[in-house]
Amino acid sequence: MTSPAPGRPPVSPDSRDHPPQAPVRAERRAVTEQESRRANGPDWDRYADDYQATHGEFLGDVGFVWGPEGLTEAEAGVLGDLHGRDVLEVGSGAGQCSRWVRAAGGRSYGLDLSHRQLQHSRRIDVATDVAVPSVLATATALPFRDASFDVVFSSFGALQFVADIGVAVDEAARVLRPGGRFAFSITHPTRWMFPDDPGEAGLVASQSYWDRTPYVEVDDASGEVSYVEHHRTLGDWVGLLSGAGFALTRLLEPEWPEHHERVWGGWSGVRGRYTPGTAILVADLR
Ligand SMILES: C[S@@+](CC[C@H](N)C(=O)[O-])C[C@H]1O[C@@H](n2cnc3c(N)ncnc32)[C@H](O)[C@@H]1O
Repeated sequence: MTSPAPGRPPVSPDSRDHPPQAPVRAERRAVTEQESRRANGPDWDRYADDYQATHGEFLGDVGFVWGPEGLTEAEAGVLGDLHGRDVLEVGSGAGQCSRWVRAAGGRSYGLDLSHRQLQHSRRIDVATDVAVPSVLATATALPFRDASFDVVFSSFGALQFVADIGVAVDEAARVLRPGGRFAFSITHPTRWMFPDDPGEAGLVASQSYWDRTPYVEVDDASGEVSYVEHHRTLGDWVGLLSGAGFALTRLLEPEWPEHHERVWGGWSGVRGRYTPGTAILVADLR
């Protein structure tokens, strides 16, 4: 069983980075967009304080990292020149990346499903004096007019949490201006073959890469779906992007840095030296 989002505690008690808030059982089964959203918003509300306490320093209040390997946007240059650009971050959490975009001269805006994550964003706005105007909404219904942005990006934000991924990608295309850029990081699709264990047990493939059945946590007490993640193969992503009018220009698979020993959920040097943990897809609207 795998729980692939960085920041999520793996279900395996051996590698859990903090205790779960309620006993859950993990399954693979079909779930709708409504179920995904109804579970993930409250889940991120419950988890936000821990997430920011555990990872906030690594992320940096005005910092842009693309994933647990620590690759920064300053190093990757995925988004291009941001000066004077209108930029939307989808699944912005506490807005660290968007704050970095602001510091680089862009007009960035945040969007997230979790009210508590956005409260953290506001807290850091005040502390840093770099404010990211943000909205509580979902990636599948962006509350913006057509052709409003030059760049839409997401750093491990909403995309692996939505069921209606075609709708989310179409929404990104709709709010972008012609030639606009869409860039996002996700759990590398190949990771779905492996148990979510940062140790050596996480290096042995145990599930089919082609099994798109969502990962679901169910609250033991209520029987309600309490957390959902969705898997798409690399081929699925290429099809989704080209179907929405994008041309894929880059696929980055950051290598695990030599002296980087941080463990983040199922991400670690033990695994990262052998197998990619993060994929960054970059696409331009035709
Ligand atoms: C792993 S966090 C990443 C946040 C931020 N980009 C960072 O690097 O810390 C995932 C974020 O996606 C948000 N999210 C989940 N589903 C979403 C949806 N359907 N629409 C918008 N945001 C969503 C969560 O609330 C959470 O803040």
